[in-house]
Amino acid sequence: MTDAHPAHAPYYITTPIYYVNDRPHVGHCYTTLVADAAARLMRVAGRDVFFLTGTDEHAEKVVESAAKNGVTPIEWADRNADEFQRAFELMAFTNDDFIRTTQDRHTRVVQALIAKLQESGDVYLGDYVGWYDPSQEEYLTETVAKEHDYKSPVTGRDLEKRTEQNYFFRLSAYADRLRAHIEAHPLFIQPEARRNEVLGRLGQGLADVPISRAVKEGDTPWGIFMPGDESHRVYVWIDALINYWSAIQTDERTKYWPAQVHVLAKDILWFHAVIWPCMLMALGQPLPHIVYAHSFWIREGRKMSKSLGNFIDLPTMQAYIDRYSLDALRWYLLTQGPLGTTDADFVHAKFIDVYNADLANGIGNAASRVANMIAKYFDGAVPEVTPERALAQGHGRDWPSLTKNAVTDAIERMERFDVAGALRAGLELSNEVDRYIHETAPFKLAKDPANLPDVAAILINCAEALVVAANLLWPAMPASMTTLLSRFGCPAPDQLDGRDALCAWGAVKAGTPIEKGEALFPRADGDEAPPDGG
Ligand code: MSP
Repeated sequence: MTDAHPAHAPYYITTPIYYVNDRPHVGHCYTTLVADAAARLMRVAGRDVFFLTGTDEHAEKVVESAAKNGVTPIEWADRNADEFQRAFELMAFTNDDFIRTTQDRHTRVVQALIAKLQESGDVYLGDYVGWYDPSQEEYLTETVAKEHDYKSPVTGRDLEKRTEQNYFFRLSAYADRLRAHIEAHPLFIQPEARRNEVLGRLGQGLADVPISRAVKEGDTPWGIFMPGDESHRVYVWIDALINYWSAIQTDERTKYWPAQVHVLAKDILWFHAVIWPCMLMALGQPLPHIVYAHSFWIREGRKMSKSLGNFIDLPTMQAYIDRYSLDALRWYLLTQGPLGTTDADFVHAKFIDVYNADLANGIGNAASRVANMIAKYFDGAVPEVTPERALAQGHGRDWPSLTKNAVTDAIERMERFDVAGALRAGLELSNEVDRYIHETAPFKLAKDPANLPDVAAILINCAEALVVAANLLWPAMPASMTTLLSRFGCPAPDQLDGRDALCAWGAVKAGTPIEKGEALFPRADGDEAPPDGG
């Protein structure tokens, strides 16, 4: 089931906004990378994309860390937000904006939205007694707290019993509507196991949730005041969720609501699949189409944690990039990552296997072979081949249809947020070229000059198909696919005009000079020690 999307319909995709208290690591980069690949594919498919990421800055922990480091909270936030921005530049992400919850454009909207919810009676003042998880800055229900022996389910630290006068959001009023919505929209919460989890928990009904915390004497001013009440600040999670809305409150951007996809991990599914949609219902707004919660990266079989100090952090990622290229890292993360419901293990040996199989021996090798044969047999320029002749040399393959179908398939998959499937469409096309070269053996045929017209036809089929494959793989590997395309005289897909151009047979023009060029992905040595980020 997909909604019909006209070619230029707005496509709004978001990532979580990351806590400025942490340093960016592979987890943050992964979610943002998944969104980046989707944003890039949708843009080249002609959609009007808005891709948002950013930082979540009003957590209490920011105040603590700033104090420990002898700076003000905003100085601390500035420093770490910069670090996230630098990480995202390093990864070549194409986010259209980077929102920070300390920005005035955000805080104003938070207050206005909450004021609206107060007017409608969806936010009210009441008493709250509950179990607070200080390490996660969230309240847990009695049932959940008890289940975990009154310890944080995430960090195992003690929960605190807190009683407060709080503002509440009338979540209970929306449970039935939310359930009906989830049931009627199978793609709304993905993957399916996550959807079932949420439906299961909804079966127990929903209690109203506190959305503020009381300002205490001597508190460092940090966080957004409740509208008209400076004795309460907006709870950081409510503040944070509103970023998806506040970032698009300009005349040019309001068209982007509802979001097409919120990408996140399973740790924060409940906020995105339940609290946020119910807030939107209370505001009378349409719900996002897809809330996609992937699983976690672990490393060499172990959970990544501060205590183990085993995060794939930025220096480690930089070391991989320096040795194998950014695109190699992007490819490994995208194709071996935890998109589904199982965690994915970052294992160096697997990185090497995937790199060699998919890239060095896969698309990289196919591209070199084809370019080298054209250079060798046709004096370094693309030969003239009629479409009929090319078709006649297809060996049972109708290449123009195969490539067109691959493009349609990749885009349709990405529309339902089957990211892995969308990328596979490009890789399969390049693998098909390999099989075709193997079957037709143009290097053998070329030994007899009488066969050269057939060899030309075969190589043109290969080159054209590789160009389409590269267009489809470009969202994952923009730099190397741009190089590959330029070797066949073709522009990168972001320079083309919409989805039809992605598979326009005839993109490789007769007479185009073809140079051999260096290997796109030199073979990696599995015996070499893993790169060390220091
Ligand atoms: N600030 C909140 C989100 C507010 S969104 C309105 C938050 N921030 S966070 O910095 O903790 O980021 C959590 C997100 O980072 C996860 O949901 C996931 O997207 C990403 N990841 C963090 N660690 C991860 C892994 N080990 N593996 C994969 N992604 C993970 O929660």
